Amino acid sequence: MSSLTINPGGPLKGTVRVPGDKSVTHRAVMLSALADGETLITGYCRGQDCLNTIQAFRAMGIRIDEETDSLTVYGKGRWGLSEPGGPIDCGNSGTGIRLLTGLLAGQDFFTVLTGDESIRRRPMGRVVQPLREMGAVIAGRKGGDLAPLALRGSRLHGVTYRSPVASAQVKSALLLAGLFAEGPTTVAEPRRSRDHTERLFKYLGIPVFQDEASVSVDGRSSLGWGGGKTLSIPGDVSAAAFFVVAASVVPDSEVTILDVGVNPTRTGLIDILREMGADIRLLNQREECGEPVADLCVRSAALHGTQIGPERVPQAIDEFPILTVAAALAEGDTVVTGAEELRVKESDRIATMASELGKMGVSITQRQDGMVIRGIGSGSPGTTSQKLRGVSGSSCGDHRIAMSLAIAGLAADSPTRIDQAECIETSFPAFEDKLLELLTR
Ligand code: S3P
Repeated sequence: MSSLTINPGGPLKGTVRVPGDKSVTHRAVMLSALADGETLITGYCRGQDCLNTIQAFRAMGIRIDEETDSLTVYGKGRWGLSEPGGPIDCGNSGTGIRLLTGLLAGQDFFTVLTGDESIRRRPMGRVVQPLREMGAVIAGRKGGDLAPLALRGSRLHGVTYRSPVASAQVKSALLLAGLFAEGPTTVAEPRRSRDHTERLFKYLGIPVFQDEASVSVDGRSSLGWGGGKTLSIPGDVSAAAFFVVAASVVPDSEVTILDVGVNPTRTGLIDILREMGADIRLLNQREECGEPVADLCVRSAALHGTQIGPERVPQAIDEFPILTVAAALAEGDTVVTGAEELRVKESDRIATMASELGKMGVSITQRQDGMVIRGIGSGSPGTTSQKLRGVSGSSCGDHRIAMSLAIAGLAADSPTRIDQAECIETSFPAFEDKLLELLTR
């Protein structure tokens, strides 16, 4: 197990790129594998989560050639996958396992999906139960709530499903299953989750029907889609988030992050930080492959606490660990409510941030659905009047916790050691190198 040591420091200066968007990469690989012919995917995320999804499709007979910055996927059409010879290991990836459960439920072959110890603790019933309503035959531990999951492959029919949680993984699993079902599949959710699946469907020419409250696909009756497209994946705003917060809280910093996806269903962190006083500008705004993209220019600023309620949680769902760091270094309290989903992520992110930032001297009061973070306060713009304590912490196997603690370490009074830091590879290979690059310019 590797550890990462971060020395207090700064400012951060310069221009940087972050890995391709993890959510979009998973979806691009999946839909390219089902296209008729070749698709070129550029700027893909080379994190372990996405590599596992690539491996899964190879195991189902799809040729995928990997270059440093691009993938060529030789799609075999909507019914072109073949039965894998063994279980598919999705590693740490909730998106991988849940989307594959949907996509594979309606195939005419048998699959077993599993993952690491964290994945085998996370709830799968949220996708298994509605898929069973569509006719899927899925077995798993605890009645199908926990992986490994065994999918017999069966004929599906469309349903209308009202998801109790705002979850793009649930929505996308059902829409992917819907491509193999008889009749329309409609998903409604309490609040709008990220819409990458819908956007990619549209970009590829797969009919998708949307209104304020729900999204539908038409299933078997819709035609397949051709290859021949290039899918260029935007930089991951959830990876950029670490540098956005670092540049905001470390005095005298100025950082530009190029080619970042700024889909409004993902930019909650930027909105919240701006409200807290951050200086973040979106430059060179454009659209690529149906996704809005921009360069983010961030300068350090004094932050103050804020209130984040349930309506703002989905757009920032993966950013709460790093947002907690920003809140810890702000003036006043930040109150988060309606965020109980954080308890079923790669780790229980409310508990892990409370314990690990707690070691660094931050007072965080946990609530079942959120937390209150007591900021240690900022002085003049971009300067914190007090420091965090440099300590030994643990990522608890969660990549976003590891990177958040690393950023907190920049504002500590002595070095911070983060144990179990290898998990950073799941989404952000070369995170440390990029951070050091910004610190030494
Ligand atoms: C994702 C959806 C979110 C997010 C995850 C990626 C996706 O999960 O937390 O990192 O790619 O669909 P939920 O659907 O569980 O909210």
